[in-house]
Amino acid sequence: MNTKTSFPKDFLWGGATAANQLEGGYDEGGKGLSVTDITTAGSLEKPRMLTYMLNGKAGETPAMPGAGLPKGAKGAILPDEYYPNHVAIDFYHHYKEDIKLFAEMGFKTFRMSIAWTRIFPKGDEKEPNQAGLDFYRKVFEELKKYNIEPLVTISHYEDPLYLSEKYNDWQDRAMIDEYVKYAKVLFNEYKGLVKYWLTFNEINCSLLMLNLFGQKTNDDAVYQHAYQKLHYQFVASARAVKAAHEIDSNYVVGNMICGIVNYPLTPDPKDILANRYAWEQNIFYCGDVQAWGEYPSYSKRLWNEHNVHLDITDQDLADLKAGKVDMYTFSYYMSNVITTHESKDKVGGNFAAGAKNPYLKYSEWGWATDPVGLEYYLEVMNDRYHLPQMVVENGLGAVDKLTEDNEVHDDYRIDYLKQHIKAMKAAINNGVDLIGYTTWGCIDLVSAGTGQMSKRYGFIYVDRDDEGNGSLKRYKKDSFYWYKKVIASNGEDL
Ligand code: BG6
Repeated sequence: MNTKTSFPKDFLWGGATAANQLEGGYDEGGKGLSVTDITTAGSLEKPRMLTYMLNGKAGETPAMPGAGLPKGAKGAILPDEYYPNHVAIDFYHHYKEDIKLFAEMGFKTFRMSIAWTRIFPKGDEKEPNQAGLDFYRKVFEELKKYNIEPLVTISHYEDPLYLSEKYNDWQDRAMIDEYVKYAKVLFNEYKGLVKYWLTFNEINCSLLMLNLFGQKTNDDAVYQHAYQKLHYQFVASARAVKAAHEIDSNYVVGNMICGIVNYPLTPDPKDILANRYAWEQNIFYCGDVQAWGEYPSYSKRLWNEHNVHLDITDQDLADLKAGKVDMYTFSYYMSNVITTHESKDKVGGNFAAGAKNPYLKYSEWGWATDPVGLEYYLEVMNDRYHLPQMVVENGLGAVDKLTEDNEVHDDYRIDYLKQHIKAMKAAINNGVDLIGYTTWGCIDLVSAGTGQMSKRYGFIYVDRDDEGNGSLKRYKKDSFYWYKKVIASNGEDL
């Protein structure tokens, strides 16, 4: 790895979060219910579940429905279930304290998301909820106090429950208008306070879910659902990009992809081709549409494989062209191995389940640590899109121990991040236009995949456990001081 080049002078160092994973206050300030608000806790062994009242009885269905919600389902909060996102780490009431800590580390940017249901509680209201708008204004003003640039995700896994049920998880183009209405309110409301926007978090997850925990589905209806949902989201995203530019020409709008690097396990040409196809379906498909403004040629193959027939209008195609993203952003945690052979050595992570890479180490949650993969990914995307890039999530989910002196010695996290920062440097050295890096869960928060608090990513430890016990007090980990030094030296002092 060549790491001679330095990070650009105005590089955006920071951290990343999502509203539903840190805010809490799920029913405060007029907020409506989102799909995450009816999602239970889980673990690697036990998946999170969405909870419903089915014909008046409590019922559950897998958290990642894929083919939509069960018929007649009414999403509900059930009395005997624990919902970790309801309180999360209570950023809703602690935001001043938390932003002060981010400022102490020297953050240049803070990635956060807006809870759609704070702005439009059900989703279909004509007017936004003032209390919701006020909350985010206060957060942005607090960030401004410290010269921290917000990087705002408009939709991060928390569609309004009402809309999700009414339109069966994006199976109706009416969702496009609801999303664009919501995005335009944000663009008008926060002009001058926000510059960077991301339209949908990890939009390609609808495709990654088709192979969740290695359980590849062959049900054509599930593929039909996923591709149709994505089409409406692509159009919604493109129309939002166009609206953003019309409202403020300074706005920079990016897509956001779950960036998993795929490698062929063997040199068998069948593995090489399968690997290429995995890239196309899981990674390139969404990025291509959002960055090129049109469907790539291999789309037809993907649709035909599962008899997918999409509702796409000429106006949609024109909208896609008119709303290409300004930057390509992605999360990066791990790489994955693709093979057509039966492999004995398997891993059990959620998106990267399957064959094990003998050259890599795996986290307790089965995610392969692979900094070289980050360099590879950045360079591939640079060649493909010629756009500025941001790594908007990266980090190690691990169990941390708070000592009696209220310290956390997380050298494993420092080591993980150090290696990935070196990889980014190498990519910059190889011509990549990288403009920012926000580590995931800069403050401990609820895991999206498992709902656990014990899967921690932060520089700041939050006293809260998987059952909802704890004081919610914040403590600086060793990595807090380390990251402060990294930012102060613009990535030189690792
Ligand atoms: C990304 C999501 O997939 O990974 C985040 O955008 C999520 O919301 C993060 O929290 C880490 O995943 P997990 O399952 O460890 O929380």
